[in-house]
Amino acid sequence: MSVWEATGRANSNLAFIKYWGNADNSWRLPLNGSISMTLGGLFTETHLAFSDTFEVDAASINGHPAGEGELARISSYLDFIRAVADVRFPARIVSINNFPARVGVGSSASAFAAIAVAADAALDLGLSERELSSLARVGSGSAARSIPGGFVEWHQGTSHDTSFAETIAPADHWALTDVIAIVSHDPKRVGSSEGHLTSGTSVLQAARVRTASDRLARCREALDHKDFCSLAEVSELDSNILHSVMMTSVPPLIYWLPSTIAVMQDVIKWRSEGIEVFYSVDAGANVHCVCGPGYGDEIATRLERKKYVVAVATAHLGGPAMVTSSKHSTAARFTK
Ligand code: DP6
Repeated sequence: MSVWEATGRANSNLAFIKYWGNADNSWRLPLNGSISMTLGGLFTETHLAFSDTFEVDAASINGHPAGEGELARISSYLDFIRAVADVRFPARIVSINNFPARVGVGSSASAFAAIAVAADAALDLGLSERELSSLARVGSGSAARSIPGGFVEWHQGTSHDTSFAETIAPADHWALTDVIAIVSHDPKRVGSSEGHLTSGTSVLQAARVRTASDRLARCREALDHKDFCSLAEVSELDSNILHSVMMTSVPPLIYWLPSTIAVMQDVIKWRSEGIEVFYSVDAGANVHCVCGPGYGDEIATRLERKKYVVAVATAHLGGPAMVTSSKHSTAARFTK
């Protein structure tokens, strides 16, 4: 009997300049680059084991067996990893998120990044951070950005090897906080993967993609100079453009709830009072409220008082994905 196992942990991330639509869907080669902050403390921890004693792949997520669709997606990602590593054994995955899944808080990013680092350790692949990021990208595009830590840019690239994410500023560069206003715990009905597929049906998508490099440059510069006003302006613009594309896709994708817009309006008002805060919304109803240094607690308190906010989660800049344990029961992993 042979078992190769490891446990990986990866933080979620929030994109200031977002990924939406692929040039190549199976490799998840995006139509534009993106920039994110790593959400320290909002993570997925995944134990992954490959063994010749398992008959089929199996996965449990937050204590429940993975649904049919989830298992199919995980299994096809494991097939890719098995091909890279030249192994054939089925795998078992036990995955725990310490934050709500499928509500626009980036659970597929942390989940697939955690699988990638666990697989690298379990199968002794010895991948570099850049290679790990490309590997994670195949599972979920945004997972490429959950491999490095701090402020991260995913370079669009034109191939598997050239489409990867790297740190552009370390976690201690700028003490931003993401205070997430949870306005609904209901899982989204349409996942990001489906949204990427229909993004091209919006007449606005071509304009979004064409102008993305300008927003990426403005975002890089704002991060470099710690210019909160500029970062707020370009991030809110990018989030609004993303949702304009979603809403004008066929069929339309409307993730916002009335409470989503209420929080966005609150954030605009609070910023006009001099508080450093801006909003960003992913494929879900919940609102990421990114705060400048020293403003996170005040915004969390204000959000908690709102009747349309059901919970508040706070994340500070986080570090890279990591392996928390690994073990091989035989030395020769290539025994098939
Ligand atoms: C709106 O990475 O979740 O959060 O590659 O199909 O797994 P898949 O999609 P995913 O898409 C993220 C979309 C977004 C924007 C972003 O995080 O850049």
